[in-house]
Amino acid sequence: MEVRVFDDAVSLGRFAAEQVLDAIAAKPDAVIGLATGSSPLSLYAAWAELARERGTDLSAVRGFALDEYAGIDPAHPESYHSVIAHEVVTPVGLTPEQVFVPSAEATEEAAEAYEQAIAAAGGVDVQILGIGRNGHLGFNEPGSALDSRTRRVALTAETIEDNARFFDSAADVPTEAITQGLGTIMDARKLVILAVGEAKAAAVAAAIEGPVTEAMPASIAQRHPNVVYVLDRAAASLLS
Ligand code: F6R
Repeated sequence: MEVRVFDDAVSLGRFAAEQVLDAIAAKPDAVIGLATGSSPLSLYAAWAELARERGTDLSAVRGFALDEYAGIDPAHPESYHSVIAHEVVTPVGLTPEQVFVPSAEATEEAAEAYEQAIAAAGGVDVQILGIGRNGHLGFNEPGSALDSRTRRVALTAETIEDNARFFDSAADVPTEAITQGLGTIMDARKLVILAVGEAKAAAVAAAIEGPVTEAMPASIAQRHPNVVYVLDRAAASLLS
């Protein structure tokens, strides 16, 4: 496991974007796993910039989002269908056809179809991840099986509270989601885990230095052969 610590969002985003761009340089039709949320925003900005600088052809790249709220209208501005379109597809310069997001219907069939679509694309080459304050990856909340696959899940009160900033109130945050499982995430050939800010420091320290346990979902990444944590100083502050 590699842990890199940066002083500012620009250098953090650039380093993380380089992991993605290097994969695309080696394999123009690379499959990139996409996270929503605040942590990867500097990565997406740098991805666009680096691709322009290097003249990278992104036309064969495919993207698979980690998760989506269950029951949300995909046209809702805070659905992950919308967020991925606005924060990844447009700024990076991909087409909507290149990017897949789990169905908000969140049925067993939709989950199975998503697993099959990832497999048919050849699996994920680089999975971009944020980490929740409770150590969740995707929407795999504490207690998720370490070998779980894409499925419908309930969100914890903490996650609902954290995501209330994107909605009018906590009552408007969907209470369930469809998420790639921890086993699905672990199948990716490389994991790039981003964390920014003091609120993530305890989860980052537990995930990297604590035991591998369902109580701290991100700890499963200790068992991945190719993982890089990309942190700012605040998120790294509790690492020994
Ligand atoms: C996003 C996702 C979540 C977030 C995590 C951190 O698709 O699945 O696991 O990565 O909640 O969110 P931010 O980056 O907003 O702190």
